[in-house]
Amino acid sequence: MRDIIVAGNWKMNKDHLLTVDFCVSLALDLQKRRTDGLKVIVAAPYPFLDAARGAFGDSVGMVAAQDVSAHTEGAYTGEVSAYMLASLQIPYSIIGHSERRQYHHENGEEIRQKLIRLLENERIPILCIGETLKEREEGLTNKVLETQLQEALKDIALEDGRELYIAYEPVWAIGTGKTATADQAQEAHAFIRGWLKGGYGAEIAQNIHLLYGGSMKPQNIAELIAQPDIDGGLIGGASLIYEDFLAMIDTAIIQAKTE
Ligand code: 13P
Repeated sequence: MRDIIVAGNWKMNKDHLLTVDFCVSLALDLQKRRTDGLKVIVAAPYPFLDAARGAFGDSVGMVAAQDVSAHTEGAYTGEVSAYMLASLQIPYSIIGHSERRQYHHENGEEIRQKLIRLLENERIPILCIGETLKEREEGLTNKVLETQLQEALKDIALEDGRELYIAYEPVWAIGTGKTATADQAQEAHAFIRGWLKGGYGAEIAQNIHLLYGGSMKPQNIAELIAQPDIDGGLIGGASLIYEDFLAMIDTAIIQAKTE
């Protein structure tokens, strides 16, 4: 059975003290709860990853990077390698976020290289894919998802599927307050899982965690994570507000228990 994942993507927000404060509080709150079947992840900015990890201690809270270099090591000023993340015991990294595809012109091959670097270092990639509003309106949603999956996963062998998370993040829902309806999100997630089944077989496809991202908040998380192919959320804006993030974790705990 897959876990329920509540992952916050803080993007370029918070500072050192706010990060430590948030993660220390969260560790205490998580220790008071039954968290079987639940994973809580915070993708903090690079400079605060180690502090966030330390603040989480041995609670179920875990830390993710927001990106990783496509290169192994060397003269790449400003880059952070998957090996560096491994040396800090950071278990996850987001890759292929639409903001990086859009503002940093990342292409499919670059994202594939990042994915390979993470797997080589036994880090779990959280691969983001999703269509723009124009693409959805033109009926191209599945085509776009398929292309992004093909590009990122070309010639990638998976052991059992637990080593990869995929986040479906429709670009039109990110930071806009417009959430995909539960039906729209489930449809996209079912398409993704179907594609994975075609490429990797049913067992591996069943083990891959699929997250929804795009204006997820306490008011809509329950309906979204109740869908059969949605295993949690990658949450931007609402993950910055402590009470909202905790409220979403509490909803996920209820969902994890009912599964
Ligand atoms: P919002 O939740 O702010 O829409 O952001 C979603 C996102 O981009 C998570 O990676």
